[in-house]
This record gives sequence, structure tokens and C-alpha cells, in this order.
Amino acid sequence: MGRLDHCYNIADLREVARRRLPKGVFEYLDKGTEDMVALGNNRRMFDQTKLLNRVLVDVSDVKLDTQIFGKPSALPLVIAPTGIAGLCWYEGEYELAKAAAKAGVPFTLATGSNTPMEKVSAGGGRPWFQLYMWREKELSYELVRRAAAAGFETLVWTVDIGHGANREHNARNGFSQPNRLNTRSVIDVLRHPEWLATVIGRYLATTGMPEHANYPALYQGKMTGKASQAKALRADKVSWADVDRLREIWPGKLVIKGIMRPDDAQRALDHGVDGIVVSNHGGRNMDSAPSTLDVLPGIVAAVGDRTTVLVDSGVRRGSDIVKCLALGAHAVLTGRATLYGIGAGGEAGATKALGILKDEMRRTMAYIGKQRVTDVSGDDIWRG
Ligand code: LAC
Repeated sequence: MGRLDHCYNIADLREVARRRLPKGVFEYLDKGTEDMVALGNNRRMFDQTKLLNRVLVDVSDVKLDTQIFGKPSALPLVIAPTGIAGLCWYEGEYELAKAAAKAGVPFTLATGSNTPMEKVSAGGGRPWFQLYMWREKELSYELVRRAAAAGFETLVWTVDIGHGANREHNARNGFSQPNRLNTRSVIDVLRHPEWLATVIGRYLATTGMPEHANYPALYQGKMTGKASQAKALRADKVSWADVDRLREIWPGKLVIKGIMRPDDAQRALDHGVDGIVVSNHGGRNMDSAPSTLDVLPGIVAAVGDRTTVLVDSGVRRGSDIVKCLALGAHAVLTGRATLYGIGAGGEAGATKALGILKDEMRRTMAYIGKQRVTDVSGDDIWRG
């Protein structure tokens, strides 16, 4: 039996990934920021949100498919942008994109990813592209035009970064960007020979060390090199006028990720977006943030009937997806859940993660007596 056969839930995949990956890589994806308060809040709120059984109704035909931006998705789920998949597995984000395409759900390629966007979009499925705005905004617009030419259907602009995150574990592990190897990180890597051979070894034998293939040409280069300092060049002088500019340039669906307030959600609509992602960045940026389930109902009340509301930050079970739907979200994004799958077993691991979430979601739908995604409602939540 392979390692994946012993995985019955996302936590099991996380454990396999934890053992396989160097500590620096694993903690980069797994941890939050500062005291991990936001990370804990996210999970706590999912645990505290309760669904009500509905009994003696026909649940012989539960279907989990839905429409996201007018196109079918096998689940109310989109793969979130995460920049680290390429270090979890050889060509990890390409593996993740393939798993998403086969599972019939959209996949979001991160700005910080290693696989060139053209390779991902040529792979089929529903590719979305995530953007970080650079200080030299024209460089970002170039990327946006490149993504449009490559056939990406949705642009997700992540706006919750402020001055960047204070993730002390990355500094301690020698895993800050640019990667500055220290004694600790060298020992860490050497203690994971399988990872070294099958990930780094394969890169060295093929294309060389992973690059930031979707950075503006000016900033491209090895992840280990000076080029990764480009992160410091992310724009902190942004405004709603930048949404208008993107709206002019980008022909597809436009989504703003990192909305936590009803007034910001309303403003996003005023500036013509097609959807928002209610997100605290998986508890990875501002540690004082409330959980997304805390703020979701207020945002849904403000704009939920006029736009597509997506939500992320803490989804680890299929029941969590149902809870988000019951609180008014149209679909969720999963970052870590599917990344643990990649870290545990590449495409097969991601497929396993999606299968687990699907199975758990179907089971939960049957418990609450709902056969269709669009039938899940606030009535399914226990109000105490
Ligand atoms: C992160 C940033 C890069 O969460 O989005 O790691």
C-alpha cells in the first residue's frame, strides 16, 4: 500500500506531507503568522458552526455541481493561489492544475508560481490567474495582458498584503524570500533526501532551479537568487482606481481577494468586479483578523445577491464547504487542503484531497437533507 492509501482525511495528508517535506517548506505552507491567532480562529469558527440534521427526506440523488461565473464546476470549490506547490513536488502547481482539471474545478495559478502560465492554460480545465500588483504597475499590466492572451478566464487580484507578513518561522527556518540558506536550513534539506532527489534533483536534471516564471520579465530569475527580492517591490500605494484600470485591461472575470468588510465589498461592486473572495489569507497575513466565517454573513447581507461571493481560510472538511454555503457563499477556495495533497503525493495526492472533500461534502448534504448546492441555506445552521 502506498502512503496515500493510509490517508482518510486532509489531516492525514498533512501528516504525510509534514514527514516528506523539509521543515522550512512545510512550515511555510502550514503555519500562519506571528502568534497564529488568526489561523486558530479560522478553524475554531468552523468547529463552532453547527448544521442541523433534516430527517426522512429523499437523499438518493445528492449532486454537488454548481455554476461559478456561469460555467459548470463539479464542486462549489476553486483551487486557491499558492506559490509553494513547486517546492512541495516537482512541477507541483502543474500537478495541482491537472488534478483540478480532472476533478472539474477551477484552478488559480499564483503570481509566485514556477510553472509558466502558458503551460498551465494549455493543460485544459478552468485556469484562473492571481495577481500581485507591482510598484511599477505597468509591469503588472503586462502580466495581465499575457494572462489574457494565454486564455485565463478569471483574474484574481489579492489585495490584503499591506506591508507583507511577519512570519517569524520562515526567518527562523532560513526560508524567507529570497532564500538565504543557513546551517539550519541546510541540515533540514539534507535530512530529507527523498525530497531532495525527487524535487530539487529533478529540477536540476531538467530545467534547473525553479524560477518565478510568472513575474514580470524584469524580475524573473531563480527562486534562490536576487530576483526573488522583487517581492519587496509589490505595490503598497494602491487604490480603487487601480480596479478601474484592471477592469479596462482585463477582458475576463475580475475578482478581488482579501475582502473582510461589507463597505469594501460594496466598493468592489461599485468598481465593476465580478466577484470577491472573503479571505484573511489563511491566517497568514494580519494575525488580528477575525475569521472569515465571522464576517461572511455581514458581507453576504450587503452584496450577496448582486455578486459572486467566494470564501477561504480554514476549509479542511467537506462539511466546512457546506457551512460556507449555508452562510451565503457561492463557493470556497482551498489552499492548504489541496497543497497537503501535493506535498503528500503530487497530482495523486491532490486528487485524493479533492475526493475526500467531495465525499465528506456529499455525506453532509445528506445529513442536512439537501440534494443540491443551491438548496443549502441559512436555515441549515443551528442558531442556538
Ligand atoms: C503567501 C503569499 C505569498 O501567503 O501569498 O505566502
